[in-house]
Amino acid sequence: MRRVVCPGSFDPVTNGHLDIVARAALIYDEVIVAVLHNPSKSALFTVDERVELLREATKKYPNVRVQKFHGLIVEFCRVHDVSAIVKGLRAVSDFDYEMQMAQMNYNQSGVETFFMTANPLYAFLSSSLVKEFAKYGGDVSGLVPDPVLDALSGRLSPS
Ligand code: PNS
Repeated sequence: MRRVVCPGSFDPVTNGHLDIVARAALIYDEVIVAVLHNPSKSALFTVDERVELLREATKKYPNVRVQKFHGLIVEFCRVHDVSAIVKGLRAVSDFDYEMQMAQMNYNQSGVETFFMTANPLYAFLSSSLVKEFAKYGGDVSGLVPDPVLDALSGRLSPS
């Protein structure tokens, strides 16, 4: 079975993330979306909320499952018998750090990383910008799935 992982913080998941996950699900037998639980980094949504939002947003893909993880992604890959990571690249600015992580992960474990170019519709999109716009009353519908839209309006109020 060709099983890959799409790791990230997903605070919150955007339509850009979902585009990568959906395209990976067409190519691979199984895609695990791995949501990083990093207690030292403050997040808008708890890891369980982020997992739930992702499960809701990916429920139409039978070969996608969502799990939280902490620690090293290569350890998650070892435990779940995953041989490759799939990441989206939006712009050249993503490239340096992503390549460094990919090479470190390969060096340490032999886990491969495959980069998928972002859909140009979402090349500008990030969870941080979504949060910032939503916080100040911006309209982020069309950029995030509906459950995230609802969760954002419940969580953020303009200040
Ligand atoms: O959505 P993000 O925050 O850009 O995702 C980054 C993520 C979670 C993919 C990356 O930070 C990661 O894999 N973290 C887990 C810890 C780890 O394995 N670090 C070493 C990477 S070389």
